[in-house]
Amino acid sequence: MLRTRPETAAWRANVARVGFVPTMGALHAGHLSLVERAKRETDAPVVSIFVNPTQFGPNEDFTKYPRQEAKDLATLEAAGVAAAFVPSVEEMYPPGDRMRIEPGEIAEALEGAARPGHFAGVATVVAKLFEIVRPDVAYFGQKDFQQLRVIQTMARERYPAIKVVGCPIVREEDGLAMSSRNAYLAPAERAAARVLSRGLFTARSAWSRGERHPERLRARVEEVVETEPGVAPEYVSVADPLTLVELKLPANRAVISLAARVGKTRLIDNVLLGMEVSDLK
Ligand code: PAF
Repeated sequence: MLRTRPETAAWRANVARVGFVPTMGALHAGHLSLVERAKRETDAPVVSIFVNPTQFGPNEDFTKYPRQEAKDLATLEAAGVAAAFVPSVEEMYPPGDRMRIEPGEIAEALEGAARPGHFAGVATVVAKLFEIVRPDVAYFGQKDFQQLRVIQTMARERYPAIKVVGCPIVREEDGLAMSSRNAYLAPAERAAARVLSRGLFTARSAWSRGERHPERLRARVEEVVETEPGVAPEYVSVADPLTLVELKLPANRAVISLAARVGKTRLIDNVLLGMEVSDLK
């Protein structure tokens, strides 16, 4: 296990093509799908585990975010990961550190509007991780769709040698998108949360039957989600997948994303229509 920048630099010096999977731990099958892809496409997959304080708002779940380092390290070893980078907060944010990335327009709507400062925290920590790990390819899940676009935009501008690859959402059998935060759900909430993917899949079916109107696609999602009183939607967005600008007119590609509260837990999910996540750059 690598804890510090110098240890990681020494490890990096001996590896040709590095595939990087940044995580906050509490690993699940979604993370492991990124690891598998990194194993297939590069010489050495490296996973970071770091619960990044700067991407949590003051009233968010930083202190209660699930932490299970020993279990995660055993999972990574069993998955054949070459190295795990598990830094401390002081290693990532040493005294006097002033690095901060402003992610720009792509970060303004949706999650950026709901969670002020969140994407500056994400972009900053990912930039720091990129500079420490110096990967050739980095893998991010589609579940955090706007995060993927924020990082692809940042990498294009600042780290053009690093390829940022988006990987499809991994879902539970009943459709719920895998997330470390699903662990917060009580059994009744877990059952209620199924409505989120059901709503998105209803819109996706409408799309495959030819529906392209953004308002009607949004209505398909909302009609389904509203049937579940235990779920309080925050937004349902139908946007262009490259810019995340809301669609006003029918288009040949779209991302429908939503955020909702299920009890005290805030969940997000999305479906990408008319293109594959691996085509995003
Ligand atoms: O998606 C996550 O787990 C985090 O936002 C990331 C990319 C590891 C940055 O802390």
